[in-house]
Amino acid sequence: MDDSTINYEQIMKLALERGFYFPSCEVYPDTPAGFWEYGPNGVSLKNKFIELWRRELVRRDGMLEVDGSQIMAKPVFEASGHLASFADPIVKCTKCNSIYRADKMLGEVANVVVPESAPLHEFDDEIEKHHVVCTKCKGKLGKVGKFNMMFRVGIGPEGEDAYLRPETCQSLFVDFPRVFKTMRGKLPVGLAQIGKSFRNEISPRQSLLRLREFYQAEIEVFLNPNKLNDVERFSEIENTHLNLMIDEKTIQTVTAKKAVETGMIPNRLVAYYLSLLVEFYQKTGIDVKRSRFRKLGAKEKAFYASVAFDFEVETTTGWLELVACNYRSDYDLKAHAEKSKANFEVMDGEEKVLPHIFELSMGIDRSLYTMIEHTIRFDKENERTLLSLKPYLAPVHVGILPLMKKDGLYEKADGIFLMLNRKYDAFFDAAGAVGRRYRRLDEIGAPLAITVDYQTMEDNTVTIRKRDSMLQERIKISDIEAAVANEVAYP
Ligand code: GLY
Repeated sequence: MDDSTINYEQIMKLALERGFYFPSCEVYPDTPAGFWEYGPNGVSLKNKFIELWRRELVRRDGMLEVDGSQIMAKPVFEASGHLASFADPIVKCTKCNSIYRADKMLGEVANVVVPESAPLHEFDDEIEKHHVVCTKCKGKLGKVGKFNMMFRVGIGPEGEDAYLRPETCQSLFVDFPRVFKTMRGKLPVGLAQIGKSFRNEISPRQSLLRLREFYQAEIEVFLNPNKLNDVERFSEIENTHLNLMIDEKTIQTVTAKKAVETGMIPNRLVAYYLSLLVEFYQKTGIDVKRSRFRKLGAKEKAFYASVAFDFEVETTTGWLELVACNYRSDYDLKAHAEKSKANFEVMDGEEKVLPHIFELSMGIDRSLYTMIEHTIRFDKENERTLLSLKPYLAPVHVGILPLMKKDGLYEKADGIFLMLNRKYDAFFDAAGAVGRRYRRLDEIGAPLAITVDYQTMEDNTVTIRKRDSMLQERIKISDIEAAVANEVAYP
């Protein structure tokens, strides 16, 4: 195997050719950038990723899942601070009017890091110092300004202001009093939500990596700030290894227990959730040896975060943030309580508390991209590309291939397909040479392929081929179901 040539373009090609994802409205040339669709294999991969998230985080920790509205009322975002502060620094060319994100442009053109929430004059100073000009026409750039990334929508005939949510968690905050009461919650408790969020990005790019409409899986842990070290199940994760970034060049791998003892992680509660996150990602097939938690500096953090760690993974596009882990303190509940006059305080034993919040805000699209990038293999010896996805996450669990379409083989294979396809993701493929059919299954990560041949017609046996080893063995049709169940079982 030779994986040295993996690059973003190859993953894009696979995604387009094998039904993972493709541009939205692609038949129209003037479609705005930053909108992508998942094809059948992408949907299947995404659904399985979400199910794993439910299993390894939501169910494991007894969290409460909510499904909120994507359009939310204006006061929500007045209270949350998004209408005032959710803005990117932008700069416009005075000659051709092209618009750029100032922080990204400085990074790419001048290799200078200015955090996105830095004061505007810092961008202007660096642009002048490094003589940065428009990358399209070489024109002079104007002054850096702020652009709010919220998408406004008009409700009803009068066009009443409302907004597409820029993060799913706002419904978890405003729904907290009801959910806590009706579900008889007890602190600490996680509320969780999967869904779409919307951000009017200045420079959407690299397909799933920076979208204007994207999927988040967010977990908001509501907690008593006086009990940050009371974590009942800490022993479950105390030996989990966390890669903590110490400085630009150093990543130190320590157990969750040691990270808390040495003050590298501020408390047991944060260490507990960061560990659950790592254990979850281990099961996605993403190589967590190539991950790190990076503590953000004051100017890098979002406006609502008091402490923030980004969970990042190494990819061919550089280090990629997959999860923002923010300690949001009482910022959100206090703001919504003041604005709405609703009561967000709850009892924790005898103590009345306004809960603080620690969140794990996961980007699903980026996670799926990384799963593909970290598992793609180019097997030169056998002239094939394969996705070594975890079998339980593969978009197709098993391919069913009749060797020929004649002599009853097609019908026999169809019978096997019908036996499997309501329990598993089975794919029936009778088109073309069998070698090419195996290659197509390899490219979508199908862990098993079953071939029906002339011997099947005589003795009711088939060949079953494994994706990674390409080993084939002969088994009875009556043993197929158990073989598939065994292969795609969760660990
Ligand atoms: N809820 C945090 C974020 O969307 O980044």
